[in-house]
Amino acid sequence: MADPLYLVEQRLADAFETVAGRRADPVVRPSDRADAQANGALAVAKELGRSPRDVANDVVAAANLVGIADVEIAGPGFLNLTFAAEWLGGLIAETAADARLGVAAASTPERVVIDYSAPNVAKEMHAGHLRTTLIGDAFVRIMDFLGHTVIKENHIGDWGTPFGMLIEHLLDIGGTEGATTMEVRDLNGFYQAARVKFDADSAFADRARNRVVKLQSRDDLETTTLWNALVRQSTLHFNEIYTKLGILLTDDDLAGESMYQPSMPLVLERLAEVGLLEESDGAKVVWVDGYTNRDGDPLPLIVQARTGGFNYATSDLACVIDRTERLGATLMLYCVGTPQAQHLNMVWAVAEMAGFMHGAKAVHVNNGNVLGSDKKMLKSRSGDPVRFIELIDEAVGRGTAMMRERVAEGRSDVTDEEAVALGQLIGIGGLKYAELSSDRIRDYVLDFDRTLSFEGNTAPYLQYAYARIRSIFRRAATDPVTIRTIAPSIDQPQERALALRLLGYSAALGSTVESYSPHKLCTYLFDLAQEFSGFYEACPILKEGVSDELRMSRLALADLTARTLQHGLGLLGIDVPERM
Ligand code: ARG
Repeated sequence: MADPLYLVEQRLADAFETVAGRRADPVVRPSDRADAQANGALAVAKELGRSPRDVANDVVAAANLVGIADVEIAGPGFLNLTFAAEWLGGLIAETAADARLGVAAASTPERVVIDYSAPNVAKEMHAGHLRTTLIGDAFVRIMDFLGHTVIKENHIGDWGTPFGMLIEHLLDIGGTEGATTMEVRDLNGFYQAARVKFDADSAFADRARNRVVKLQSRDDLETTTLWNALVRQSTLHFNEIYTKLGILLTDDDLAGESMYQPSMPLVLERLAEVGLLEESDGAKVVWVDGYTNRDGDPLPLIVQARTGGFNYATSDLACVIDRTERLGATLMLYCVGTPQAQHLNMVWAVAEMAGFMHGAKAVHVNNGNVLGSDKKMLKSRSGDPVRFIELIDEAVGRGTAMMRERVAEGRSDVTDEEAVALGQLIGIGGLKYAELSSDRIRDYVLDFDRTLSFEGNTAPYLQYAYARIRSIFRRAATDPVTIRTIAPSIDQPQERALALRLLGYSAALGSTVESYSPHKLCTYLFDLAQEFSGFYEACPILKEGVSDELRMSRLALADLTARTLQHGLGLLGIDVPERM
């Protein structure tokens, strides 16, 4: 790890121990006065009953910072640290020589199940599914890079009472044959038509109810075949979207509600064994402390309805058991919308009481809503939820139009074929980045004009920053691989600012994972691109009169910038272009 803040903190921590007689946090932070400030002397002085400046003096005397940083004591006892230029140059060279760009693998690797996307069968994916799909996919890439073992799971909604009416309706339109001819885009229409018949036609409703019984018994071949056709038709639709977006989920990751059906009776047995299963109003429930309904009455987790059917909570309990006991998960990330917080928390509380967790940690990586530019839930013109596939097509269409416009305006000299490919890149990249750069917990406004802008905290801005550096290398006719051992000179303030930012990549990923917030990585990448702009303005590379040595030194900083941008965007599932 070549993060100067971290390295200095280690040394100061040793010095603080010498002075305080115990480990104490040096409290190192980036600072505008110097490169960093350490404020730990204040707390230690209070504890020792000494003056903070005296403590600060003793810490400086005890710290070994020769060749690393100059220290000044300021104010009541702050340490202002200015890193040695040569030391920073050396750290940059060390980072550039490292394929992991200075990011160490986790010291305690987890087996992490990431539950994401999870759309429902016979319903089209809508804009709301955009968030969980993109957030989950980013964490698959990030956790994998950090050395954890990642198991992706797509917990699709492929079971439950609606399947009775869906199967009967499928029979009416031609059975499995009908399924194959059914337009993938008609899934919502299919569902609605079944619903209308169910409500209007009591004979149909009876058939639907009988069909549910057959489905649940799992031994009626015709029912199973029809159900399979329905599920298949939907997963084809999901896969089409995953492919368009470059999402890592495949059919191998499908772990829908139906998968847990066979083990649900066992869940009840186990709950009964540990004395948690109780009856309430004819239903089987588990009481969980601290949960109440709207009237303030205690709220149980219902695991078997009065009618004998199992429900969503039961399948999620079976799912926890499967993850901890079969897959050996030590960490489970549930990328699911905020409205399911109570459901998930109750499931985990019951799983904990029942001994299903086995020490694994569960985290709700929740997300808010996607809003239209009118700040209301994103709706299509007809008032229906916007379809996912339409969003993607619109993003790509707009991206292509924008690239063609740039060519027409002379701001880009790519061919039309390249413009189309770039349109795809900035369209998809823009859509993903708009999502991931927003705080996932809050609602966010999807505004295509902003999303696809070349200015501001957007994918096109970052993709362009990358392509620009690649173009500098083409013009310099330098192969970046040949300069990766150079320790650049850190002389100008902009060189220093860029170097410090580059060396902060590992810490940025650390804080991204700590709160499971992809927007923190986005902010880092945006800051990095901006830092590079300032650097390139103040520190010419190609200009005549720049010595070869200085040019190489600055190219080394530019190269590490490009690699960090490419890598960071890659972790978000966003590609970069070589030219733009
Ligand atoms: N299919 C559900 C929905 O669309 C999400 C499932 C989330 N995962 C889970 N283990 N409950 O709302």
